[in-house]
Amino acid sequence: MADSEEVELEARLEEQDSFEPPASFVEQANVADPAIYDEFDAKWPDCWERAATMLDWDDDYETVLDDSTPPFYEWFTGGSLNVSTNCLDRHLDERGDEVAIEWVGEPVDEANRSITYRELHREVNEFAAALREIGVGEDDVVTMYMPMVPELPVAMLACARIGAPHSVVFAGFSAGALATRMNAADSEYLVTCDGYYRRGDPLDHLGKANDGLADVGHETETVVVDRLGPNGDDFGHDLADAHHGYADLVAAHEGAEIAPVSRDAEDMLFLMYTSGTTGEPKGVKHTTGGYLSWVTWTSHAVLDIKPEDTYFCAADLGWITGHSYIVYGPLSLGTTTMMYEGTPDHPDYDRLWQIVEEYGATQLYTAPTAIRAFMKWGEEFPARHDLSSLRLLGTVGEPINPRAWKWYYTHIGDEECPVVDTWWQTETGGMVVTTLPGIGRMKPGSAGPPLPGADAQVVDTVGESVEAGRAGYLTVQKPWPGMLRTLYDNDERFVEEYWAEYSDTDSSDPDDWVYSPEDGAKVDTDGYITVLGRVDDVLNVSGHRLGTMEIESAIVGVDGVAEAAVVGGDHELKGEAVHAYVISEDDQNETEALRRRIVQAVEDEIGPIARPERVVLTGDLPKTRSGKIMRRLLENVSDGEPLGDTSTLRNPEIVEEIQRRAVE
Ligand code: WT7
Repeated sequence: MADSEEVELEARLEEQDSFEPPASFVEQANVADPAIYDEFDAKWPDCWERAATMLDWDDDYETVLDDSTPPFYEWFTGGSLNVSTNCLDRHLDERGDEVAIEWVGEPVDEANRSITYRELHREVNEFAAALREIGVGEDDVVTMYMPMVPELPVAMLACARIGAPHSVVFAGFSAGALATRMNAADSEYLVTCDGYYRRGDPLDHLGKANDGLADVGHETETVVVDRLGPNGDDFGHDLADAHHGYADLVAAHEGAEIAPVSRDAEDMLFLMYTSGTTGEPKGVKHTTGGYLSWVTWTSHAVLDIKPEDTYFCAADLGWITGHSYIVYGPLSLGTTTMMYEGTPDHPDYDRLWQIVEEYGATQLYTAPTAIRAFMKWGEEFPARHDLSSLRLLGTVGEPINPRAWKWYYTHIGDEECPVVDTWWQTETGGMVVTTLPGIGRMKPGSAGPPLPGADAQVVDTVGESVEAGRAGYLTVQKPWPGMLRTLYDNDERFVEEYWAEYSDTDSSDPDDWVYSPEDGAKVDTDGYITVLGRVDDVLNVSGHRLGTMEIESAIVGVDGVAEAAVVGGDHELKGEAVHAYVISEDDQNETEALRRRIVQAVEDEIGPIARPERVVLTGDLPKTRSGKIMRRLLENVSDGEPLGDTSTLRNPEIVEEIQRRAVE
């Protein structure tokens, strides 16, 4: 594009603050009639049958919603189904030879895999038989600690087939994080792999898995996928030693057929550990009927997935986005879902665009942090490729700034694709706030109205709706099928963390119960919700949730550290970066060495994603008279902002010292 044209385009986009869905998209959209909003309101909660009837049930449900004991809601009670049947078996007749998973390895010379529904069904059955052989029974939690390899969705679906809940731990997490999660879930089974590729180099993964297993307090059985082939030997692991080899197990059950276990709608499908405000991660429990209905419906209505699509979500299966919108939603709809093993900058900054072009991807769903990186790398990279197969773009994970939204809309979507900015959480199971792409005007930076039938509202501290334009707290006022059911083994914490804020917890009237996601938000006169960010002590680093307490507890474990406070500092690409303010014991001289030990401890206990970008060593932290650390002040220091009122501090003089040290 000529420079002057470019400038004009930029200027026009800069001014435009809302966009109509492209007509070419609307014409073919899965959901295009605005009447759906009123219809769902009028028929609530029966409107959710619209989602449930997209599934194949073994036994029909009797009740759509049982709300007799809030907040322990039950959906589609009396019904039973199997998730692997819904994601595989029911597609075999018509789509058995169509591709279920297009797997793209990171190395450019990799033998990529196109796995058809029939092939996936076969391998899932074989691995389900293998899991049974090593002792996995119904309701046993199987942990998976794996990168983006095809055996991960196979293992998830194999678990679903035999009614064993899975708990996937992000491969980038540390050995310690794996052990914590296996211990918390009493999980006796682990599926992992030898290693994987990052930016061209093989990484040792089994070493980390073994270190984690050493800290698991009970007997375990482990299955190891040989991802690296001969390269794996480089790390000196003997794959046959002590663990089961994945390929051998599957080969031993060649052609096995495992009858899918019919699960109650409310039976657990999986656990997903996520960060909260304490050091202990929370085991978010999702169930079978409500969850699968929710992700199937939202994949259809929001991502506009059709069976003939090649849908590409660039998230990792270690997070909820990968569960809901790489595996369960798309496969339930019988489409082709892509899995890319690597990073978007290997071997060059155009890797994703090369994949989109090569496979003719029809949707792309990614995070603002990635979009900001694409923007920084430059529009010449997407411009190298034909991206005209794309029909829809999506973002998730954190607020997207209007500039990044418009860049995505223009340089990736060529102004022909609607952009859905989808707000949701690990706990919500799937999307809750977003425009419907065939219906709603898009406003860059604002996620949109709540989905039909979802009752998201912005309220003030006492739970009253705020006026348009005023900031408040996001809430969800009515239950929805995809919601978490509880925290694993901890109903009390479930009520405390998500409901206590705005509910009358003594009441058994569901109208007195309000879900609190801990996000700040505002709403405009059209009812569009703009999510402002977390209001608890949880950071959002590159779209990943990290608890400040977890990081602090890793830091205070370091010799020479007396106390630590972690806050989020503004970061151009990551959204937020981890900044640690640390009181060292007896004002250490070897500050560099201490800083290094602190960074290392965080990597060891949580993983490289939590690595502090800045470690400020200080003699004291700003505290109120009651001894509470004023994190807000530290955030201001991090972002170089004015401090505001420091008069409530016990030690106001310390702030200047910290400011001085922060720039050292
Ligand atoms: C938190 C949930 C949902 C899967 C990925 C993250 C933030 C999520 C948006 C959005 C603004 C968003 C919220 C939320 N968030 N989507 N579209 N706009 N903020 O899942 O790790 O459970 O984190 O991510 O703060 O509470 P998660």
